[in-house]
Amino acid sequence: TRGLHPDFMAKEIEQQPEVVADFMATWGPSIGRKLWSPFGLAMPRHLTIVGCGTSLHAGRAVAQVAARLGGIPFTSIEASEVAATTTVPGSLAVVLSQSGETADVLRAVDALHGRSHPILALTNNPHSALARRAQAVMICRAGPEIGVAATKTFTAQVVGGTAVVLSMLAAGGVLDRSDIHRLVTQLESVADLMAYAIGAARGSVPDLVPALVDSPGFVFLGRGPGRVFADEGALKLKELTYRWAESHAAGELKHGPLALIEHGTPVIVVDDGSDRLAATIEEVRARGARVLSIGPEQATIPARTSTNAHGLARGVDWLGPLESVVGLQVLARELAVALGRDVDKPRNLAKSVTVE
Ligand code: F6R
Repeated sequence: TRGLHPDFMAKEIEQQPEVVADFMATWGPSIGRKLWSPFGLAMPRHLTIVGCGTSLHAGRAVAQVAARLGGIPFTSIEASEVAATTTVPGSLAVVLSQSGETADVLRAVDALHGRSHPILALTNNPHSALARRAQAVMICRAGPEIGVAATKTFTAQVVGGTAVVLSMLAAGGVLDRSDIHRLVTQLESVADLMAYAIGAARGSVPDLVPALVDSPGFVFLGRGPGRVFADEGALKLKELTYRWAESHAAGELKHGPLALIEHGTPVIVVDDGSDRLAATIEEVRARGARVLSIGPEQATIPARTSTNAHGLARGVDWLGPLESVVGLQVLARELAVALGRDVDKPRNLAKSVTVE
């Protein structure tokens, strides 16, 4: 039941700290060789990340951790495009699907099997077709998610996938015991970071909504590790509000999307505090954009953000700004509520997409 929450999505956003804490309490002590060995997989030289929508975003966030900490290159592919895309021979396919029943994903798994890729699945459903068809399975333990928009399963996939990556790098000898100890402690801190982010979003987002509710379109920007979270924020906003939302790497703006910016256009920035992002922010500001910045306190100096800047605690650098997703989820939901949308059942969408 949704208890005292106005909708399931509100409840599931709030559950994110406990989902992380529960996962880490269960798997934290095993992260390392102990978690990796039962998979029976060699340390890969390349990763092929496969999923749809929010699950693909989670996969990209996880792959970036492997690239950052272990120098492992990756390709990410929409499940529906796998058949048409050349893959790297011998690459470990990491397939993400919260339901484990998405038709595009299962078809991709067949194509990957056909090309002899080993498959590691990250799913929230241990009884799913994906879990049955993969060589190795990590269950994300998010609990049932009723809202059609994925929220806590995204966070659970990022944390579960990160646990797998750390374990893989430990088994491959890239990380030693003391590295793992330090990184696991930092991963555990994500529960608190998410809780802090929920408080920050509750404090700042409702005041922002009245000025945004009539906007026909939104631009999301991020760079480096923040980019995928900007993409996820734009996906949440469009599916819940039925408004246009585009997400770009900040540096791409001047190569086209800048033409969209006019007086009052909301530009939502996952701010990493870098000078390069600051320059982009100035560029859209100069054209009258309404800039909303999500980032750590250090990044929200008044000169470069709105007065309603949403300050987050400093996150875990190597993980990327996972906690920024909370503010983006809350923003999408609050706007949708203000527009009278059914946030748990957006039009045209289904929780589990079992048709191709
Ligand atoms: C967005 C959303 C979808 C799903 C996608 C994949 O909020 O829920 O984009 O992420 O349909 O679903 P699963 O993870 O079940 O394969």
